[in-house]
Amino acid sequence: MDTKIIFFGNYKGGVGKTTSVLNFAEYFSCHASKNHSGKNRVLVLDVDPQSSLSEILVTKGGYGELSELEACETLNYVFDLCILKIKKYNDIELKFDKDCLIKKYKNLYDFVPSSLFYRNNVGLDTIVIDMEDNIQYLCILKSWVDTIREGYDYIFIDCPPTNNLITRSAFLMSDYYIIPTILDGLSTNGVVHYINTIEETYKKYCEEDEDALIAKHFFGEKPQLLGVFYNLIRGQVNYDEEKEDFEAALDKYTSYGREVILDTLINNLIDIARETKDGNVSIKKKDFKWLTEEIIKKI
Ligand SMILES: Nc1ncnc2c1ncn2[C@@H]1O[C@H](COP(=O)(O)OP(=O)(O)O)[C@@H](O)[C@H]1O
Ligand SMILES: [Mg+2]
Repeated sequence: MDTKIIFFGNYKGGVGKTTSVLNFAEYFSCHASKNHSGKNRVLVLDVDPQSSLSEILVTKGGYGELSELEACETLNYVFDLCILKIKKYNDIELKFDKDCLIKKYKNLYDFVPSSLFYRNNVGLDTIVIDMEDNIQYLCILKSWVDTIREGYDYIFIDCPPTNNLITRSAFLMSDYYIIPTILDGLSTNGVVHYINTIEETYKKYCEEDEDALIAKHFFGEKPQLLGVFYNLIRGQVNYDEEKEDFEAALDKYTSYGREVILDTLINNLIDIARETKDGNVSIKKKDFKWLTEEIIKKI
């Protein structure tokens, strides 16, 4: 089974990472699979400590409130126990109950929530403090994902706008990454910086670190940038100048160049915002559907 893991990132908040993951998860899951005769089987992981995607999927998926989940139903639990194992109990074998962790979203796709409310408000931002900057900790997420990845065509990861050990570990295990951005000078400069920083992550752990040999063996090849796309485009605005500046910067300062920009634009549409909050894709506006088609062709 050829599972593709796709990481959605940008150090800027509010550019549409969470919105994209929710929309792509549904559109990909309605699309014919390249691996088998059925539709794509999609799994969504939320590693953002704000857990906003989890909140939508848990409540709209009919699982009650995020605060009502049992500890063992969250990604926090996997990290928490694996960290304890590394620190204190290396001989104990951990087996996580799939049925408890993995939830179905409306018969469309699966997800594993993270929670702000885990064990009296121990979010992933608190858990990450106990992680150390070495391969053992960076392997936690992938080691667990490897036990459940079979059976999925795609795994999407929603990330926070920060560079912590959890996001780094999510990046390292990915096959591809996608960057949503807004078209203004500050945000697009941020994208160039983001690409270079995130690519450095792979270089640091899988090429330069003293344990690089094992890291590369474990994580595989460097994640490929599948594309950058423009989100929150307003119809009446002329973006020519911002576009040219950004594209020139991509050519000059990144190894990918302007070809990495996806053709499909996502407009700023109130219907997308409203439907995303309710856990749905927009029936009226198909921007994310067209973008899904474009991305699937590139994989
Ligand atoms: N294409 C869009 N049209 C309208 N609103 C959008 C669109 N994309 C994102 N938004 C809104 O922008 C805000 C930030 O989006 P979000 O996906 O949470 O960004 P991020 O995850 O990068 O922080 C949310 O309120 C969301 O509803
Ligand atoms: Mg988000």
